[in-house]
Amino acid sequence: MQIITTKAELERSIQACKMKGQTIGLVPTMGALHEGHASLVRRCASENDVTVVSVFVNPTQFNNKEDLLKYPRSLDRDAELLDSIGAHFVFAPTPEEMYTAEEMNEPFRFDFGGLDKMMEGAMRPGHFNGVVQVVSRLLYLVRPDRAYFGEKDFQQLAIIHFMVERSVLAGTFGKLTVVDCPIVREQSGLALSSRNERLSAAEKQTALGISRTLFDSLEWAKEPNANVPAVQQRVIDTINAIPGLEVEYYQIVDQTTLLPTDSFRHAIGCVTVYCGQVRLIDNIKYE
Ligand code: PAF
Repeated sequence: MQIITTKAELERSIQACKMKGQTIGLVPTMGALHEGHASLVRRCASENDVTVVSVFVNPTQFNNKEDLLKYPRSLDRDAELLDSIGAHFVFAPTPEEMYTAEEMNEPFRFDFGGLDKMMEGAMRPGHFNGVVQVVSRLLYLVRPDRAYFGEKDFQQLAIIHFMVERSVLAGTFGKLTVVDCPIVREQSGLALSSRNERLSAAEKQTALGISRTLFDSLEWAKEPNANVPAVQQRVIDTINAIPGLEVEYYQIVDQTTLLPTDSFRHAIGCVTVYCGQVRLIDNIKYE
C-alpha cells in the first residue's frame, strides 16, 4: 500500500493502473477509521482491482471551527488498518494541497434541488457545499469506476447521488457508480461513528438510547392508528427523556425526496442528538 500526499502523484499512480486496464474503486473518508469504514473498504476491494481511500478532514464542510479542531485524526493507525484490509493507495493531502486559498475561503455554491434545505443542511449551513466540493474534486482526480459511501449520512448520500446523476459535471466522472453501504452498528445497536471516540464510557452507554428508540419506533409505526407525526414526536420525547441526550431534530421523510411524508412507505427517520458535547446522527428505514 502506498501513501500519497499530492494530487499530481495520485493522478500519475491512477493513470498507471488505468493503462493496465484495472478498475478503480474510491472510498472517501475523513479518517479516524472504524469498522464502518472498513466495511466500505472491504467491499470496494472485493469489487475493484484497485482500492483508493482518501483520508482528509475537509475544512470546507465544517461550519463550526471547534468541531473541525476536535475532529479525531489518526493517520498512522488508519494506514495500518487500510493496509490490512486491501487498500492499495491512501490519499492523505494537506488542505493547502487540496485547495487554493480562494477555494478555501470562497464557499463552493451548488444547487442541490432543495435536498440541502432540511435536517443537516438546515442545521449546518454550507456543510453540503463543502462535502460536494471535496467529493467532486476526489472523483475528478481519481475518476473511479465505483465510489462507496455509508448510509449513516443518508442526506449526504442523497445529495451525492443527485450531484452525480444530474451529471452536473457530465462526462467528468465517466461511468461512475455510487455504491450505498448499510450502517454498521456495534452489537449494542450504537451506529459506528468517528465521533464515538469523543464519548466517555458513561456517555457511550447513554447514547444507546438513540438506536434503541429508533428500533422501538419500527414497532410503534405498526400499532393500530399509528401516524407519522405521532411516531416522530414519540421518538423525540423518548430520547429527550433520557438524561444526557438532547434531540436536535428527528424527521421522518421520503427516502428519495427527503421531504416530509405522511406515510411510512419508503420513509426514513433521520435523527441528530447531542450526547453531552458530541453531536451524533443515526437513521432508521421504516419500509
Ligand atoms: O462522510 C464523510 O466522512 C465525509 O463527508 C466525506 C464524504 C469523506 C467528505 O469529506
